[in-house]
Amino acid sequence: MHPIDGVTCIQGDLYDQEVLDQLPVADVVLSDAAPKTTGDSRDQYKSYLISVRALEIALLRLKKEGSFIVKIFQGEDFDAYLAEVRKHFDFVKCTKPPTSRNESKEIYIVAMGFRGREEGYESYKRLLEGD
Ligand SMILES: C[S@@+](CC[C@H](N)C(=O)[O-])C[C@H]1O[C@@H](n2cnc3c(N)ncnc32)[C@H](O)[C@@H]1O
Repeated sequence: MHPIDGVTCIQGDLYDQEVLDQLPVADVVLSDAAPKTTGDSRDQYKSYLISVRALEIALLRLKKEGSFIVKIFQGEDFDAYLAEVRKHFDFVKCTKPPTSRNESKEIYIVAMGFRGREEGYESYKRLLEGD
């Protein structure tokens, strides 16, 4: 990664606790992370798992009223994921940028007005456990 003035770069796997430990409390958590695609439905499931981790990071690091933007490939888990995001934010919208190919399953969820971790972290854990 090339250094950028005024920017602290942390390079690592977003599943690593060490990476999470280095992340400050933030106004915005934005995830453009995506798996290497193979063209089958496993891509959507891998994207879902990455998005679940991104949401966990948002719940642990966002300031109250903060924003969360996440890319996800739409698949069978999408509706449950979106419903979970809605529990934590006042305003949630899905958008597909013009630069995204029509045949691509990718979509961005834009969530604003984080309600705060206390109000719903338990329901997130249920999503993780598959309840
Ligand atoms: C669509 S690209 C993002 C491109 C980026 N926005 C840019 O402009 O360079 C998806 C990225 O997600 C990263 N990624 C996938 N799984 C990850 C993980 N577990 N931890 C960290 N990055 C991951 C991939 O390495 C890849 O670089």
